[in-house]
Amino acid sequence: MKLSPPQLLLWGLLSVPGVWIVARHATGALGYGEAIQLSGEWAVRLLVVVLAVTGLRLAFPRAGWTVWLLRRRRDLGVAVFGYALLHLGVYLARKAEMPVLIVREALDPGMAVGWVGFVVFAVLAITSNDASVRALGPRWRILHRMVYAGAALTIAHWVITAFDPLVGWIHGGVLAAVILVRLALRRKTVRAG
Ligand code: HEM
Repeated sequence: MKLSPPQLLLWGLLSVPGVWIVARHATGALGYGEAIQLSGEWAVRLLVVVLAVTGLRLAFPRAGWTVWLLRRRRDLGVAVFGYALLHLGVYLARKAEMPVLIVREALDPGMAVGWVGFVVFAVLAITSNDASVRALGPRWRILHRMVYAGAALTIAHWVITAFDPLVGWIHGGVLAAVILVRLALRRKTVRAG
């Protein structure tokens, strides 16, 4: 796969927080709790951006940057999975010598929804390429509606597992608002057209 210069720039920017988290965690400057928190939060922040793309396109139909954003939506979605993978990597590295504990924790409701959410984002990332779009045809769009389930599972994971769930609820509210605005704009566009 060949990346265009703007796409390379986008991936460079998307990688900055991840490289920072990995480098600081590897040197011990960033503890386990902070690394798990930052990687999870970046996954959710990028998810907000992914879900805001269609709404921005509908709100600013004449702006060229919204077309560019729409074309890059799949990259942003893959980056959400990248941060979820980093988050899982931090977790597994910490518990590598305790496989029984990983299984026991996975049965806890807050962690179980996290694991299911991770599988959802993995399926979406694996099918975020032209070959999958061609192979799945109209079913691709239906499959990718799973992003809403992934978002709901992630917020549930956050508010159940976090010591203070307030920030999780705030991100859940932002995600819900982004989805509602997008639905309202879509309805307005259909009525006007
Ligand atoms: C693969 C399965 C997953 C595991 C094993 C896992 C593990 C964890 C752990 C251990 C915590 C810390 C809980 C605490 O504070 O005690 C956490 C929090 C969190 N996770 Fe996950 N997680 C998973 C999936 C996900 C996914 C898919 C996302 C996002 C796409 C995510 C986002 C978050 C967020 C945002 C937090 C809260 C961070 C904070 O407290 O600010 N997690 N997760």
